[in-house]
Amino acid sequence: MAFVSSGYNPDKPMENRISDIGPRDFNEFLPPVLKNNFGQWKYHDILEPGVLLHVAESGDEVYTVRCGTARLMSITLIREMCDIADAHCDGYLRFTTRNNVEFMVDSKDKCDALKKDLQSRKFDGGSFKFPVGGTGAGVSNIVHTQGWVHCHTPATDASGTVKVIMDDLFEEFTNHNMPAPVRIAVACCLNMCGACHCSDIAVVGIHRKPPLIDHEYLDNVCEIPLAIASCPTGAVRPSKVEIDGKQYKSVAIKEERCMFCGNCYTMCPSLPLSDKEGDGIALMVGGKVSNRISMPKFSKVVVAFIPNEPPRWPTLVKTIRTILDVYKADANKYERLGDWAERIGWERFFEKTGIEFTPHLIDDFRDPAYYTWRQSTQFKF
Ligand code: HEM
Ligand code: HEM
Ligand code: SF4
Ligand code: SF4
Repeated sequence: MAFVSSGYNPDKPMENRISDIGPRDFNEFLPPVLKNNFGQWKYHDILEPGVLLHVAESGDEVYTVRCGTARLMSITLIREMCDIADAHCDGYLRFTTRNNVEFMVDSKDKCDALKKDLQSRKFDGGSFKFPVGGTGAGVSNIVHTQGWVHCHTPATDASGTVKVIMDDLFEEFTNHNMPAPVRIAVACCLNMCGACHCSDIAVVGIHRKPPLIDHEYLDNVCEIPLAIASCPTGAVRPSKVEIDGKQYKSVAIKEERCMFCGNCYTMCPSLPLSDKEGDGIALMVGGKVSNRISMPKFSKVVVAFIPNEPPRWPTLVKTIRTILDVYKADANKYERLGDWAERIGWERFFEKTGIEFTPHLIDDFRDPAYYTWRQSTQFKF
C-alpha cells in the first residue's frame, strides 16, 4: 500500500509530540453495574464451569461468562468480541490475567443467551472461538510466551505447544474435576518470561549444545565484558583468535562448564546456540503463587528433556496428561499439585507417575544445591 501519513512530521520529530500520558483510567470502561457497586460486593458463586455470579450489598447481580482465547489473535477476532459485547453486554468486556476473555451481564436470561451465542461460534477448521470455562478446580488458560512467532532466543515454540496441550486438556477447561486449580505455563527459553517458575505444571524450552562462536564478527557486534559477565557458570573468557593470518578479539567457551542457558547469546549476537535436535523441553511441576494453606512454591524440574516434535508435540502432551491423571486420582481436595507431591514425598511422585528419575534432576548449582539433597533418613523404599 502506498504511504499514508498519520500527521507525524519526520523533519520535526519532537513537534506536537505527546508523551507520558499513561494508560486510560479503567473506570472509563466499567460496565454501569460494576461502577455502581464498586467495593460493595457481598459474595460470589460459580454457577457452572465458566459462569460466575457476583451479588452486591445492594442486591445487584453480575453474571460473568469466561471464555478461552489463544492470546495471539487478529483484529478480526477482537472485532467479533466487540460485536458480541455490543449485542449482549452494552459494549463492555474484559480480559483476565490468564488471557481469557470475560463478558458480563446483569441477569440470568441475558447470561443464558450470551453463553449460547458464544458456544455456537467456531473457526472454519472446527475449533471453538469462545469455549466457556476456566473457573474453579479445573485447568484454565496457559500463560505463555512468544516462541518461534517472534523471539530470537527460544528453544521451543509457545503458541504451538499451548494449542496441543489445551486440545488434550479441553475437558478440564470446561469442568471442575481437579482436586484444586491447575495452572500451566509455557516459556520458550530459560528467561522464563511469564509464570513457569511458579506454576503447577511448567513447560520450558532448553538447549543441549554450547553456543557457536562467530569470531570474525564478535568484537564488532558484542561488548565482550558483557558476554563474559552474562555466564552463570563462568564458562566464557576473553581470547584472541587468528583466522587467515588476521588477529581477532573474541571469547572462548569452556564447554564442560557450559549448561546451554543461552544468556551469552542474549548479550552477544555472535554466540547463537539454537539447534533442531539439541533443543527441546524441560517439564517442571509443583509451583504456586497463592499462600492458601502452604506458602508459595517454586516449580521443580521432573523431566529433564522432551524433544521438540512439531506440530503436535505428542510426548510432551502425553507426559503432562499422565502427571495430571495421577494427581487427579491421588490428591486430596484443595491440594495443589506441589502440596500433593510434598505430602506423599517426591520419591512417591516419581513412582506413581512412572516418570524416570535421572541424575539431571539433582541440583548442582552452587551452595544452595546442597539444601535440595536429603539430609535425613526419612524416605520411603
Ligand atoms: C583427625 C580426626 C578427625 C577429623 C579431621 C574430623 C573431622 C570432622 C569434620 C570435618 C566434621 C564435620 C564438622 C561439620 O559438620 O562442620 C566432623 C564431625 C564429626 N566427627 Fe569428626 N573428625 C575427626 C575425629 C573424630 C572422632 C575420633 C570422632 C568420634 C569418636 C569424631 C566424631 C565426629 C562426629 C560425631 C561428628 C558429627 C558432629 C555433629 O555433626 O554434631 N570425629 N569431624
Ligand atoms: C539413649 C541414648 C541416646 C539418646 C536418646 C540420644 C539422643 C540424641 C538426639 C535426640 C540427638 C539429636 C538428633 C537431631 O537433632 O538430629 C542426638 C544426636 C547425637 N548423638 Fe545421641 N543419643 C543417645 C546416645 C548417644 C551415644 C551413645 C552417642 C555417642 C557414642 C551419641 C552421639 C550423638 C551424636 C554424635 C549426635 C549428633 C549427630 C548429628 O548431629 O548428626 N548419642 N542424640
Ligand atoms: S521465554 Fe525466552 S524465548 Fe520465550 S519470549 Fe521470553 S525471552 Fe523469548
Ligand atoms: S550458554 Fe550459558 S552457560 Fe553456556 S557459555 Fe553461554 S552463558 Fe555460559
